[in-house]
Amino acid sequence: MLSQVRFEGVHKIFGAETAVEDLNLTVNAGEFLVLVGPSGCGKTTTLRMLAGLERPSYGRILIGDKLVNNLSPRFRDVAMVFQSYALYPHMNVYDNLAFGLRAHGASKDLVAQRVKETADVLGLGQLLKRRPSQLSGGQRQRVALGRALIRQPQVFLMDEPLSNLDAGLRVQMRAELSRLHQRFRVTTVYVTHDQVEAMTMGDRIAVMNNGRLQQVDAPETLYDNPANVFVAGFIGSPRMNFVPGHLTMVEAKPAVEFLGMKASLSAGSLLVSEASEGEVTVGIRPEDLMWRPAAGPDSTLTLNADVDVVEPMGHEAYVTAVCAGETVTSRFPPRSGVRPRERVELALNPARLHLFDARSGESILQRPVASSTEALRSAREAWIEESVQGRPDQQREAEPQVAPAKKKEDFKRR
Ligand SMILES: Nc1ncnc2c1ncn2[C@@H]1O[C@H](COP(=O)(O)OP(=O)(O)O)[C@@H](O)[C@H]1O
Ligand SMILES: [Mg+2]
Repeated sequence: MLSQVRFEGVHKIFGAETAVEDLNLTVNAGEFLVLVGPSGCGKTTTLRMLAGLERPSYGRILIGDKLVNNLSPRFRDVAMVFQSYALYPHMNVYDNLAFGLRAHGASKDLVAQRVKETADVLGLGQLLKRRPSQLSGGQRQRVALGRALIRQPQVFLMDEPLSNLDAGLRVQMRAELSRLHQRFRVTTVYVTHDQVEAMTMGDRIAVMNNGRLQQVDAPETLYDNPANVFVAGFIGSPRMNFVPGHLTMVEAKPAVEFLGMKASLSAGSLLVSEASEGEVTVGIRPEDLMWRPAAGPDSTLTLNADVDVVEPMGHEAYVTAVCAGETVTSRFPPRSGVRPRERVELALNPARLHLFDARSGESILQRPVASSTEALRSAREAWIEESVQGRPDQQREAEPQVAPAKKKEDFKRR
């Protein structure tokens, strides 16, 4: 049975701290929704409220059409997988899998049948007699998943279930979880701080920061039309470049001055009605800022930049350069031969610019989406490859967590 999940005006307040603020979110029946955001933004609290381990301070939570605020976890028909998967060390895999069903009074035959099915799906068939200490990390994580899967719940809740695994295994398990979801279509809320996991696994992604939901959209839409500077900076790697700009109207046509240039906005892009002349933050994805010799005819803008750092990634190189006093990152072909302290020409397609209100950080430009699907696909592939290689700064947990408020300041300063 597929169930929808709804949060309506949900708050969670711990003493003086608001962990979740006015959350309104619908998870569609059968959907794989990824809840992503930096550490401390309220993801686990949201999941625990849905599981019934924490009670909302205000608001309503519904599973299917049933209000569950006052329903104990046992009666919610949800299964939760945590980062630190707890298996019973003294029980073998079979008994670990069977435990929940037995506790619910399932017959011996039903238990045997479900254990077999679940073990087959997860490739645990040969391991049923082993104890957790005789399993690899990935196998243990599979047993933990199996324990949730075997109950065939209405809703799956997963809280960073892959973060204890090494990079290679994480990629493999990511694919496995996606396959499992395609097969069973159980409504799933998957929590992670890793934007690569979010982009590759989510039917839709809900981005949270500071206890507040920032945007909920399909991965492509989130990438192409981030609602604000936070989402723009959080989704995508390397991170979007942000530089100060000035929006002007020339004969009723919008143009933006930035990095010592002036660009008219493309016909396909729409300024939101609140947008007015003045200070803006210009966002440029590193793949949109190209090495001139590698750029196509649409990249009509040219910028001179002084190369600071070249990071070869194998299939490409990240080049950090200083352009009109601003430090920007761009993606270069792997063997450009460009070196630090060299002057290079960068090229930019004005249709690829993002614009944000300088004060509020809200997006003021609706960009056309369809044209960029290709770019996204290649970007996604690149991330997948990178996380296989385990590049440390691709994994957000390796990054010291910057307090969200401080991040905002960062944007303003630039
Ligand atoms: N039981 C609790 N008591 C007090 N504060 C809490 C409690 N649980 C979470 N918080 C606070 O709520 C905020 C959100 O926490 P959490 O939901 O765990 O974030 P995330 O899972 O996104 O890292 C944090 O500031 C955290 O310190
Ligand atoms: Mg958490």
